[in-house]
Order: sequence, then C-alpha cells, then structure tokens
Amino acid sequence: MRLTALNSRSHRHRLLAPLARTDKQRRIRLGAWHRHLLELTTLALSGTGLAWIILHYFFSVHTAWGVTPSPWEAIVLSGHGASMQLFLLLWGSLFSNHINLGLRQSRNRITGWCLLCLLATLTLSGWMLYYLSNEELRPLVSLLHWGSGLLVVPLFFWHPYQKKIKRQSKD
Ligand code: HEM
Ligand code: HEM
Repeated sequence: MRLTALNSRSHRHRLLAPLARTDKQRRIRLGAWHRHLLELTTLALSGTGLAWIILHYFFSVHTAWGVTPSPWEAIVLSGHGASMQLFLLLWGSLFSNHINLGLRQSRNRITGWCLLCLLATLTLSGWMLYYLSNEELRPLVSLLHWGSGLLVVPLFFWHPYQKKIKRQSKD
C-alpha cells in the first residue's frame, strides 16, 4: 500500500519538482562563450553603427555638386553587416531555451520584451534600409534604425541584472 503511494505519479512529481526547476533555471543561463559572443557582437554592431553616424554627419564633404560621403562609410557598414549576421544567429538561438523558459518563469520579462521589440524593429528597419529604394522614406527609416540601435545597448547590458536589482531593493 505504502509502496504504491511512494511510486504514485503525484509523489514522484513532488520529489522531482525542485530538480526540474533548477534544471530549467540552469538552461536559462547562457554558456560563457555564448554570453561573451553576444556581448562582443552587440558592441561591434553599435560601434560600427556609431562610427557611421559620426562619419555621415560630421565627415561628409559638401561641394557645389552635392554631398560626397566619406569613403570610410562603406567600410564601416561592411563591418556592421558582418557582425549583424553573427548577432542574428546568436539571438535566434535564444528562442528555444532562454526566452521560452524565461517567459514561463516570469523572470526579467519587462526588459526581455523591450529587447525583443527593439531587436524586431532593428531587423525590420535594417531590411528596409538594405532593400527598399524609396528615397523619401529612407531618412525616417534610418533614424528609426539607429535610434533603436542606441537604445538596445544599455538595455542589453541591464537586462541580466533586472531581477537582482528588484530582489536587492526588497531586502
Ligand atoms: C521575453 C524575453 C526574455 C526573457 C523572459 C529573458 C529572461 C532572462 C532571465 C530570467 C535572465 C537571468 C538568468 C539568470 O541569471 O538566471 C536573463 C539573462 C540574460 N538574458 Fe534574457 N530574457 C529574454 C530575452 C533576451 C534577449 C532577446 C536577449 C539578447 C538578445 C537576452 C540576453 C540575456 C543575457 C546575455 C543574459 C545573461 C545570461 C547569463 O547570465 O548567463 N535575453 N534573461
Ligand atoms: C539586430 C540588429 C541589427 C540589424 C539586423 C541591423 C541591420 C542593418 C542593415 C541591414 C543596415 C543597412 C546596411 C546598408 O545599407 O548597407 C544597417 C545600417 C545601419 N545600422 Fe544597423 N543593424 C542592427 C543593429 C544596429 C545597432 C545596434 C546600431 C547602433 C547604432 C545600428 C546602426 C546602424 C546605422 C547608423 C546604419 C546606417 C544607416 C543608413 O544607411 O542610413 N544598427 N543596419
């Protein structure tokens, strides 16, 4: 009788629940190389983006025939494109465990959702910058793109600490 109770599904579930929880918590955390690569590519993306803004607004040559962009703009943008590809790969890999389990456990949700919205805006506006040939819309899309790009950096570095700061302020 007792043995049957011990073997029952609900009993096993109660015994294994803490284990399952810690396993899920472990799976939200990223491996060191994964986290560092994400940080590195975020810095490379924003660094090349910022370099483009400086070159475009302060180093373009204005002549009687119009504006000639700095030759460095194209070089910097090719670096932006390279880091973007690695970043998209790493960001995509977060969906199966990190984002899925983080949402189910309701942890770091606000900054997580803000990150997701900004990254979706960046991806969509990046695509529009590359493929859309509407010259009237381009300055607006460009502003939306690098505006969200500048916002995403502090949010990205703050996001892992959201819960810790909340917990500390409760103590
Ligand atoms: C709604 C979506 C998201 C949720 C609910 C979420 C949840 C979490 C949680 C709970 C942690 C703390 C893990 C721990 O210390 O145990 C965390 C850390 C982290 N998150 Fe997110 N996250 C989301 C989206 C994202 C996105 C889109 C990125 C980046 C592109 C990201 C990057 C990171 C990084 C780099 C850490 C630090 C990882 C570590 O300490 O190993 N997260 N997230
Ligand atoms: C998910 C992340 C990102 C993606 C997918 C992305 C994608 C792109 C793409 C496809 C372009 C067009 C390149 C071209 O015309 O040759 C671009 C341009 C640009 N990106 Fe990003 N980017 C991302 C993040 C960022 C960040 C974090 C910044 C930081 C400021 C940024 C700033 C810029 C700037 C200034 C330009 C040039 C705008 C223009 O040509 O008018 N991007 N990006």
